[in-house]
Amino acid sequence: MKVLGIESSCDETACAIVEDGKTILSNVVATQIPFHRVYKGVVPEIASRKHVEWILPVVKQALKEANLTLDDIDAIASTNRPGLMGSLLVGLTFGKTLAWSLNKPFIAVNHMLGHLYASHLANDIPYPYIGLLVSGGHSIICKVSGFDDIEVMGTTVDDSVGEAFDKVAKFYGLGYPGGVIIDNMAKKGERRAFSFPMPKLDSAEHRYDVSFSGLKTAVIHQRDMFWNEGYEKSDENMCAAFQETACKTIVSRLLRAVDDTGLKTVVAGGGVAANSRLREMLAERTDLNCIFPPLKLCGDNGAMIAGVAYHFLQRGDRSGIDTTACARIPQFKKGLQLHRR
Ligand code: KG4
Ligand code: ZN
Repeated sequence: MKVLGIESSCDETACAIVEDGKTILSNVVATQIPFHRVYKGVVPEIASRKHVEWILPVVKQALKEANLTLDDIDAIASTNRPGLMGSLLVGLTFGKTLAWSLNKPFIAVNHMLGHLYASHLANDIPYPYIGLLVSGGHSIICKVSGFDDIEVMGTTVDDSVGEAFDKVAKFYGLGYPGGVIIDNMAKKGERRAFSFPMPKLDSAEHRYDVSFSGLKTAVIHQRDMFWNEGYEKSDENMCAAFQETACKTIVSRLLRAVDDTGLKTVVAGGGVAANSRLREMLAERTDLNCIFPPLKLCGDNGAMIAGVAYHFLQRGDRSGIDTTACARIPQFKKGLQLHRR
C-alpha cells in the first residue's frame, strides 16, 4: 500500500510517499527557514502563504522522485494537529481535497505520533517502550504501547526544550533556528564553564515533568552568576553548558520513567532528537536500547505522517471530509492518551 503523506504544521512544506509503512519511496521537504530567519522566528502568516505557494510543486516533486502518478497512490494522509492553524489548514485541506477528488481514503494524523513513528521507518521496534518527544513545541515522556496508544507520563510545565534552544540563540544573536547552531557551537565549548541550575521538580506529581524557563532565564539574564572562574565567558562555553543542563534535565526524567516501568527501550523523536549531546548521553546507557531517528527524519517531514497513516488504514480507520485542524492537543495532559480513535 502506497500512502502519500503531507506535513505542513509549521515552517516546512513536506510530502513523502511511503510503501507499507516502511519503505520511503520519496521524501521532499521544502524549508521556509530563509524567509523566517530575518524575523528570528516563524511568522505564522508568512508560513501559511508559503505553504499555499509550495504545496502543489512539493507534492508533484514527491510523485516525480518516486516515479509514480496519482493513480499509483492508495491513500492520502495529512497532519491535522498540533501546529500553527493557518499552516495546518493548507496541508489538511489539500490532502482532503486530493483524496476526495481521487475517491481514495484519507487519514488525518497527529504530528506527535508522526515524530514518534520516524524511528519505526528505519527500525523494527517492538512495543511497549518509553517515548521521548522533544521538539520546538513539545517535551513529552510517554509510555508507548502501540502506534496510537500513548500514555503521557510527563511533559514540560513551561517552555518546550526546542523553544529554550531557540530563545537562547535569539537572545545572544547566534542565528536561527537556534537548536542546531547551539549544538554546533557547543562542540567547541567547555561545559564546565558555567553551572546552570536544574529544575527542582521533585514532587510525586511532577516526577516525570521537565521545565526549561528557569534555565532559559538563568542563561539569558543571570549568566555571570553561574560562571565558574578559570573559564572564558565565551558563547561557545555558554552553549556547551546550557546544552548540557538541558539534556541532563531530559535524561534525568526519562531515566525515572525507565526505572519505574522497567521498560528498557527508549525511542526518541522530534527536532531536538537531532541533538548530538542528547544522543551521546543516552548512548552511554549501554543497559538501554535507545533508538533515534536518522537525522533527516528528526525534523518535520511527510514520511513520518505517511508511515503512521498506513497503520490507521490497515486497521480500517478513515478520516471524514469534515475533519478539521487543531492548534493544540488537550490529550497532552498527563495520564491521558495522546491519541485514540
Ligand atoms: O520537530 P521540529 O522540526 O518542529 C516542531 O515540531 O516543533 O523541531 C524543531 C525544533 C526547533 O526548536 C529546533 O531549534 C530544534 O528542534 N532542533 C534542535 C536541533 N535541531 C533542531 N535542538 C537541539 N539540537 C539540535 N541539533
Ligand atoms: Zn515537528
